[in-house]
Amino acid sequence: MPQHILVTGGAGYIGSHVVRTLLHEGYTVSVLDNLINGHRKSVASAAGFYQIDLGDVKALRSFFDTHSFDAVMHFAAFIEAGISMRKPAEFFENNCVNGFHLLNEMLRHGIKTFVFSSTAAVYGDPVDDRITEDHRLKPVNHYGRTKLMFEQLLNMYEQSYGLSSVALRYFNASGADDSGGIGEDHAPETHLIPLVLQTAVGLREYINIFGTNYDTPDGTCIRDYIHVNDLASAHVLALKKVLSDQTSDVFNLGNGKGFSVKEVIEAARTVTGKKIPVKIAARREGDPAVLVADSTKAKRVLGWKPNYRSIQSIVESAWKWHESNPHGFQD
Ligand SMILES: NC(=O)c1ccc[n+]([C@@H]2O[C@H](COP(=O)([O-])OP(=O)(O)OC[C@H]3O[C@@H](n4cnc5c(N)ncnc54)[C@H](O)[C@@H]3O)[C@@H](O)[C@H]2O)c1
Repeated sequence: MPQHILVTGGAGYIGSHVVRTLLHEGYTVSVLDNLINGHRKSVASAAGFYQIDLGDVKALRSFFDTHSFDAVMHFAAFIEAGISMRKPAEFFENNCVNGFHLLNEMLRHGIKTFVFSSTAAVYGDPVDDRITEDHRLKPVNHYGRTKLMFEQLLNMYEQSYGLSSVALRYFNASGADDSGGIGEDHAPETHLIPLVLQTAVGLREYINIFGTNYDTPDGTCIRDYIHVNDLASAHVLALKKVLSDQTSDVFNLGNGKGFSVKEVIEAARTVTGKKIPVKIAARREGDPAVLVADSTKAKRVLGWKPNYRSIQSIVESAWKWHESNPHGFQD
């Protein structure tokens, strides 16, 4: 019997890619999503789909009463750091309280294996060039704080209830499945690559570059872009490990290579053949000059090998999606 995995937030950007990879690897997959930010069309047809809000404890309980799972992968959350500063209550409720309901229902049904979407935002301003898992944890926005709080809850649940979890701290998720059938469709969109490609298709007049006087070779911020299918393969490896050894752990997932805002825009110009006008704007508060992952641990312990190393290959895959779906899923 294939193992049955519940994916919360599986109608979202990263979850929908992980669902495909899990199906491809032979797992049975069910998706739980309230579609507040997700897209029904992004869910692979081979997966079961349940439109449930994690905050609806009654619905969650009856769902767990009638389905059994070997493990849960938890992507459902609010993700936009800027909004979190205006709406900390909503972020705490969705990212912590609703996750707490999920863990409690799992335990009530004897499910003790969990994979959690954490984030590089738990680190805050970097004190090292490459961020390892031992870097200090000092988030600078409420989004990062809610994710860190949830990691701490996982530690408590491991110690006291024997829940085994892997927290995966992603850097900038990017790109799209090479099929071109699913991709990034956030509202509002705040991520650089989709914004640049929306400019390329003519949906935006220009792309803002926030600050050109950082201490970096071309003056613009450097970030670590990790392809969403490389994230997906790491999730499957992490799932296999925690299912087999029931040991909790934390891993960074990044490319290990940084690309500046100007390099990303230049790659997009090459890939799309479009001009892509830019506008120089003031720095944004709280934007560190460089954020790059050290993912040595995931490679060593999980045997993970990211396939998309160049920014060009990442942008190419994203372009397949944006060029054929300029308005996203439209659902
Ligand atoms: N996108 C990134 O670059 C990035 C980086 C680091 C970490 N992450 C983490 O990865 C996860 C997925 O991110 P994403 O970019 O795919 O976001 P997304 O918004 O595309 O997906 C989140 C999904 O969760 C669903 N959801 C939210 N609240 C829910 C609730 N209460 N009940 C049921 N479903 C709910 C949404 O409808 C959506 O489909 C998040 O936990 C995020 O914090 C993302």
